[in-house]
Amino acid sequence: MRLFFALWPDDAVRLQLAHWSRELRAACGGRPTRKENLHLTLAFLGSVDDERVAEVERAANEVAPRVVSLVLDLAGYWKHNRIAWAGASTVPAGLDAFVAELRSALARAHIAFDPKGFVSHVTLLREAREPEAMPALDPIEWQLDGFALVQSVALPKGSRYEIRKSWKGRA
Ligand code: 2AM
Repeated sequence: MRLFFALWPDDAVRLQLAHWSRELRAACGGRPTRKENLHLTLAFLGSVDDERVAEVERAANEVAPRVVSLVLDLAGYWKHNRIAWAGASTVPAGLDAFVAELRSALARAHIAFDPKGFVSHVTLLREAREPEAMPALDPIEWQLDGFALVQSVALPKGSRYEIRKSWKGRA
C-alpha cells in the first residue's frame, strides 16, 4: 500500500486552507487538492508491503512530537512541478527536529522513504501556471498536536487519503 506520514489539519485549518486554495486558483488556475485531502507531508514512504506496516507503526511509536504552532503565512509556486502551495516563512525548530527524529526512526528500522529534504508545504493546486502576483492571504495558525500515517487509495479520479493511525503530541 502507498503510505506517507503527514500533519493532518483540523477542520478549522482545513477550511482556511480551502479558502487560500480558491484565492490562489484565481491567480494561477490548476487542479485543487480536495479539501478532505489537504495535509503536510513529513515523510513519503511510497509502496509498503502489507506485512511491513506494523514495523512502520512501531518505528513511529518511538518518536514523540512536541506541540508547536506553525503559522502558514506564505503562498508559493514551484515551476518544476507546477504546484502552488501554502507554507511558513518561519518553520519552528521543533517541527524540523521532529521530522529528523521520525526519519531517523524509519531509517533505523530499514523502512525506505523519499530522501529528499523536508520542505514544509501544503499542496493546494497542481498543474498551475506561474502567477503574476500572489494574492495577499490571511495567515493560518496551525497548532500541531500530533501526526498521522496516511494511506493513499487510488480512485478513478485522483486519490483518497485515509488515516491508518495517528499519534498525539505532548505539550
Ligand atoms: P506534493 O504534495 O508536494 O506532491 C502524497 O503523494 C504526498 O506525499 C504529497 O503531499 C506529496 O507531495 C508527498 N510526496 C513526497 N515525496 C513524494 C514522492 N516521491 N512521490 C509522491 N508523493 C510524494
